[in-house]
Amino acid sequence: MESARVAVIGAGDMGHGIAELFAVNGFEVTLMDKFPQALEKARGRVSASLARLVERGKITKAQEAAALSAMKYSGDMASAVAGAAIVVEAVPESQELKKAVFKELDALAPRDAILASNTSNIKISELASATSRPGRVVGMHFFNPPMSMKLVEVIPGEKTDPSVVQEVVRVCEKIGRTPVRVVRDSPGFIVNRINAADTLFFCLLLDRGVASPAEVDTYARGQGLPMGPYELLDFVGIDVGADSLAYFSGALSPEYGKGETFSRMAKAGQLGKKTGRGFYDWSSGRAAIPKAEPTDKISIMDIFALEINESVKLIEEGVASPEDIERGVVLGMNRPFGPITVAKDLSNAEVKAKLEELASKFGCSIFAPARSISEGKMRDAIEGRLSPREEAKVAQPEAQVSKPQGGGDEVRLERLPGGVARIVVNRPRLNLINGRVLDRLDAIVAELAADQAVRAVVVTGEGPVFSAGADFSQFFSSSAAFMDFARKGARIMRRLSELPKITIAVLKGHVLGGGLELALSCDVRVATEDVEMGFTELSRGLAPVWSGSHTLPRLLGVSQASFMILTSEKIKGKRAYEIGLVNRLVSTGDPDEFAVKYATELASSQAPVAVKVAKTLLRNGTDVPMDDGLEMEALAAGLLFATEDLKEGISAFLGKRKPEFKGK
Ligand SMILES: NC(=O)c1ccc[n+]([C@@H]2O[C@H](COP(=O)([O-])OP(=O)(O)OC[C@H]3O[C@@H](n4cnc5c(N)ncnc54)[C@H](O)[C@@H]3O)[C@@H](O)[C@H]2O)c1
Repeated sequence: MESARVAVIGAGDMGHGIAELFAVNGFEVTLMDKFPQALEKARGRVSASLARLVERGKITKAQEAAALSAMKYSGDMASAVAGAAIVVEAVPESQELKKAVFKELDALAPRDAILASNTSNIKISELASATSRPGRVVGMHFFNPPMSMKLVEVIPGEKTDPSVVQEVVRVCEKIGRTPVRVVRDSPGFIVNRINAADTLFFCLLLDRGVASPAEVDTYARGQGLPMGPYELLDFVGIDVGADSLAYFSGALSPEYGKGETFSRMAKAGQLGKKTGRGFYDWSSGRAAIPKAEPTDKISIMDIFALEINESVKLIEEGVASPEDIERGVVLGMNRPFGPITVAKDLSNAEVKAKLEELASKFGCSIFAPARSISEGKMRDAIEGRLSPREEAKVAQPEAQVSKPQGGGDEVRLERLPGGVARIVVNRPRLNLINGRVLDRLDAIVAELAADQAVRAVVVTGEGPVFSAGADFSQFFSSSAAFMDFARKGARIMRRLSELPKITIAVLKGHVLGGGLELALSCDVRVATEDVEMGFTELSRGLAPVWSGSHTLPRLLGVSQASFMILTSEKIKGKRAYEIGLVNRLVSTGDPDEFAVKYATELASSQAPVAVKVAKTLLRNGTDVPMDDGLEMEALAAGLLFATEDLKEGISAFLGKRKPEFKGK
């Protein structure tokens, strides 16, 4: 299916993004919608999105033009699917509507075409039953927005041909997504099934007046979540939450119908951002969340327990493997870690007790412990050791299991023109740093140290955030493992600081804890005005252990460093600039672009051997008595005197021209 034709049916929020994703990746795409105004809107959204990608340097102008010309728009199903190898249905989430569309597709699409559905919840077998080719019907569940969310759940119906699943997995990889295989067709598959229990919990909290949305969201943000659950629901649409609970109440258990507040709000047209009002007022384009104290009526453990419980049920039912559940939640919910990781650090008894408490408090059997947890076998379930009697056997051919993302995908090394390299930390949303990221950083730093062609290095995070710090899921296993992780982090920060090139960190979004230590290990820090940075460790019971407590006082003096570390107060880019933590402020434009431009200038204007020598002097010269420091400078001068670069530098200066340094 190298440059195969794809048809996407339904040009709404998901359909237009899915079509764009295929087009950007070299497929010929026809986007079809029954409503002309929906098609027009989609055309505008695709063009604007492609233009943004060009602006951010993600694609070239030529790729934009190719994607635009690969996209066709059609109001006619027959011509849209003619010659298509794969059809992705993305019409609204109604079983009747989707079945009608599948019936039509079956009649119109080529006999060998794959018919995929982007349904969020509906069983694939149900949709396949509307066709005469259930073997070629499959679930291909993208996440919103498809252009940036990496996860696609791939779901076979009961009769789906395994080769169709394999082909869809391959297509997902071709368009740069991470396919996670759902083994057994079940309502909500992995991520939405786990989400449904959370949604019910948050609905019941309001039904029972346990806490207000603002109190819960303030608590959730304090736990490091980028958005509280109610703000997120407002953002996605309260109708989506209400519809999902309604669907699950029919498909899985009537208990999902227990919640009242969400469906009442949905009926009243209070849908959140899209109607300007939900739990919060969105008239300014952002949620106006009233100031509130964080609630102490719930704890993060409630959510962990509910998610572990649903995960264990999925494993017991043979819907997915523990690894795929973990990967699905991490990528689909933008979490640094998923329920399986959390479960590994908790005892069966504490999860069971928490679930029993929630089930009795809310009178809801969905929250009651899954069978394996009741029987003390949580660990067997999450480590894939349930016996066949206990588990609907997960028959998953080895070759088709989607592989975990290795550190290779999580830190990218890009070689840019002009002697510049860029290191990009790329983990879902917050770019949290785990052991794999550290290992990969280490390997990259070693590679760059040996590469004479690279003279300046930009260190950044993928997307709007530099890095929100260390991945705490790594910390839980034992104090020895924690010590190793700390030691490894500190060692790698040091190697980066010793890299004999000018290093520039791009501070944007959040730069917290270990993320800030990574930035401190660079020579120059450029920052946006609104970046938020700080050492949050003490507020989590930790201390900066990746060289920050050593580096910060040397950079800022003991007073400022003590203040930042001991209070965990976060400061913005402007303040960081005033106290000397940041060297350049980027008030307008893209900070990454600025950093690359700046690095390119420095790569040609600063003599490479002199950079190496100056970095050594700066590092070592400050810790020795002055006489020794001065002697080190004299020795350095002698060394530099012998370089061609010094001659070139002086001759260029006298000749009023730009020097051309050779690094010799
Ligand atoms: N929005 C999300 O966050 C999200 C995430 C993952 C999956 N999904 C799923 O994707 C599907 C689409 O969701 P959405 O949010 O894009 O919905 P949407 O309402 O934004 O878009 C649906 C589009 O389908 C069109 N349509 C309706 N009937 C049609 C027909 N008979 N033939 C052709 N087009 C028709 C509509 O005009 C509309 O443009 C749903 O199944 C949803 O559950 C949504």
